[in-house]
Amino acid sequence: MTISLKGFLSFALLLLLATLIFGVLSSFAFLYPVYFNKFLPFYLLRPLHVSAAIFWIITGATGCIIYYRKEVFEVKKETVFIPLFKITWVITILAVFISYAGKQFGGKEYWEFPPILCIPLLVAWLFFMLGYFPLWKKHDNKMSAYSIMWSTGILFFLITFIEQNLWQIQWFRQSYLREITVQWKANGSMVGAWNQMIYGTFFFLMTRLSGDETLARGKKVYFFYFLGLTNLMFNWGHHIYNVPTAGWIRHVAYAISMTEWLFLINIIQGFKSKLSERRKLNHFITYRFLITAEIWVFINLLLAIAMSIPAINRYTHGTHITVAHAMGTTIGINTMILLGGIGYMIGIERLTARAKRILTITHYVAQVSLGIFWVSLVIAGILKGYRSVAMNITDFQLMMKPVFQVLTVFAIAGIGLLTGLGAIVIIYLQAIWNGIRITTDENNKR
Ligand code: HEM
Repeated sequence: MTISLKGFLSFALLLLLATLIFGVLSSFAFLYPVYFNKFLPFYLLRPLHVSAAIFWIITGATGCIIYYRKEVFEVKKETVFIPLFKITWVITILAVFISYAGKQFGGKEYWEFPPILCIPLLVAWLFFMLGYFPLWKKHDNKMSAYSIMWSTGILFFLITFIEQNLWQIQWFRQSYLREITVQWKANGSMVGAWNQMIYGTFFFLMTRLSGDETLARGKKVYFFYFLGLTNLMFNWGHHIYNVPTAGWIRHVAYAISMTEWLFLINIIQGFKSKLSERRKLNHFITYRFLITAEIWVFINLLLAIAMSIPAINRYTHGTHITVAHAMGTTIGINTMILLGGIGYMIGIERLTARAKRILTITHYVAQVSLGIFWVSLVIAGILKGYRSVAMNITDFQLMMKPVFQVLTVFAIAGIGLLTGLGAIVIIYLQAIWNGIRITTDENNKR
């Protein structure tokens, strides 16, 4: 692995660490504003946390593609575009955090930094596309599911990123409804775009772990891809709930999202059944991350089904259930696949037995914490919805009283998540920079 890729991946992992630290701080800032308002108010910590999270996911996804595309497209010599992408991307993200530190905002929703920084981000993305598409176009392997997913994700990220910035044109701001509809639609589709990039890596890993390339070529896989593409284009239906649209648009969007997940679970089951015990053991750490992602796909599917029932949605919409849905997917699915993808590329399976034991413990700490974290958000959402809609309590403090208690459990579980995932980040960083030094028992015996 080149030094610049090591640096890029380390940057992605540090973004994950920052996400966790800002997340814990923002949860306590929300619960105890008197202690935080002077130095680190929630309104500052939230964008710091959410931007770090989104940049972690996109940087991690591109890092995996940059590395694995070399093998898939048999890259002999790198062009100048990928290094240009890495440097422009990293410097702009640093500028984003410097702006936040100086309390400079001006952007929208998850991209709250000064919008001028979207220009270098866009330029960086164009460099990335120039470093990717010519290779993809030339190579025979361009029709494997993972290559198509990577390509679709990269292209649609560009489209949705531009769409996400349309509010900067006066015409879109003239009508509040128009502006918000385009915003939410773009955000929903952008999630679909990064999912394509991440699922691409997931499919790639499934073929490498099992040694079975057909896992990336069957009819079911291509159908899954088209479902994902449709989801990417139309899932915005359920992202614009507060905007007056026809009910059937939301229902179709929901149905597509859920069918996509059902298919993914089915494909992973197929992968598991094809994986021999020996191969599973040889790649156990990567395998465990992938299987954990499967479990979270299932859990989020259940939540999405519940949320789509109108009688339930009436109480839950806009509550912490939406946050549970957002974090359940970005942590449980995206982060797990990315940790699997980065781990596999740095050869995490060859760590010392001691490091592997620590990884196992921290993995379980992270999963148990994430479970408590997620359940408390769901309970907080139900409580809030019930007290405001069914009990019609209008006094905010009174309505939130029991919700705050549940959110305290959420914040404490957040510390567990920080401990578990934070330790994994540190082990990964050590493995990247110190190399994977000692392996298995033969080395330990020497
Ligand atoms: C890999 C780790 C994490 C990722 C990817 C992540 C991602 C996100 C995302 C995407 C949102 C926006 C949700 C929305 O607007 O609906 C969010 C909000 C939030 N997250 Fe996280 N998160 C992570 C870890 C944590 C941790 C460890 C905590 C600590 C308790 C935390 C606390 C929060 C809080 C307090 C909010 C704001 C919720 C609100 O505005 O009501 N997050 N996170």
